[in-house]
Amino acid sequence: MWLVTGGAGFIGANFVLAARARNAARIVTLDRLTYAGNLKNLEALADDPQHLFVLGDIADRDLVGRLLREHQPRAVVHFAAESHVDRSIHGPHPFMETNVMGTFHLLEAVRQHWQGLSASERVEFRFLHISTDEVYGSLGPKDPPFCETTPYAPNSPYAASKAASDHLVRAYHHTYGLPALVTNCSNNYGPFQFPEKLIPLMILKALKGESLPVYGDGLNVRDWLYVADHCEALGQVLAQGRVGQTYNIGGSNEKTNLEVVHTLCAILDELFPDSPHRPHARLITYVKDRLGHDRRYAMNIEKISRELGWRPRESFESGLAKTVRWYLENPAWVESVQSGEYREWLELHYGSN
Ligand code: NAD
Ligand code: TYD
Repeated sequence: MWLVTGGAGFIGANFVLAARARNAARIVTLDRLTYAGNLKNLEALADDPQHLFVLGDIADRDLVGRLLREHQPRAVVHFAAESHVDRSIHGPHPFMETNVMGTFHLLEAVRQHWQGLSASERVEFRFLHISTDEVYGSLGPKDPPFCETTPYAPNSPYAASKAASDHLVRAYHHTYGLPALVTNCSNNYGPFQFPEKLIPLMILKALKGESLPVYGDGLNVRDWLYVADHCEALGQVLAQGRVGQTYNIGGSNEKTNLEVVHTLCAILDELFPDSPHRPHARLITYVKDRLGHDRRYAMNIEKISRELGWRPRESFESGLAKTVRWYLENPAWVESVQSGEYREWLELHYGSN
């Protein structure tokens, strides 16, 4: 049995759905259902007796303590977070509340529970903390990719809050012996991603013939990984990763933002030869750059490849094509996440451009 936090969000939902599909474990999903969490993401599990959804906050120690006592999980897989850099620039407070203090309260509840287990249960237990490449800061054009020993240099409030949570997890392992692991992953894309992030935002805007807002010169580089590949890596780290270790996960797939947007536009041109918005690349508009915008991220995945035999399966082209198809085939999901709150965000963030 696993307790998964943030399992109604993008990566968490992909992880829970994949884990239930291969019957890896019984799962309790704990999620506060912020704007980014959506029960529709877990709709396929509505009749699965091996999955339980619990609405709640990771900072609620009593609730987490009760769930741990009642369900006796062998692992806690911690996805819950505020995850959007632009939102952290507009309002960093919730990032500190959830990513830093929330992770602290979760760790305290887990520590208390774990210390009460039998010696053999304590050895078997795992706390898997999901984090980001953004904790390492920004690379120059010729720098080697980040590896697990790269010093932390977070630049955005989001990255700083994730770095703090990584340090807390490390300290709980070092001080109390909690069997924790940390993974730092590059940019994910795929089904169920909230359309505030680059790829789903551009797909949905292009379909409507709206302008495609590229920040700055569009030459910032990200290392893109299809979400199913990330979830597979997490499964392997949980099963075979060495306790106390950090594993970098990435797609070995560096693209400028302009390359990403042009590829999406080309896919849409091909799918919709009669679209009045063709060629979709005409919709690209350069807008004011993000404050403190990191120039380049890239991950060295030698360690996870060598130790656990993991490599990404999906190519960028095949992953993007699958992603576009998913957004086209799920208009009800798209409709349901584009609530009033979402429209307010678009107005706040892009309205003045
Ligand atoms: P997301 O924003 O789509 O989902 C986050 C989920 O956490 C939501 O379901 C939300 O309701 C839930 N949540 C937020 N605050 C909570 C709280 N206090 N208590 C309980 N639940 C809460 O995020 P995502 O993109 O799926 O990212 C998941 C994790 O992976 C995050 O920790 C993020 O830092 C990390 N990560 C994301 C990426 C990426 O490209 N998306 C890359 C690397 C790492
Ligand atoms: P994003 O998906 O927000 O992920 P992150 O900031 O975690 O890397 O952004 C990916 C890249 O795309 C980043 O360099 C910022 C850029 N971007 C735009 O150019 N326009 C947009 O509207 C958004 C949301 C992002």
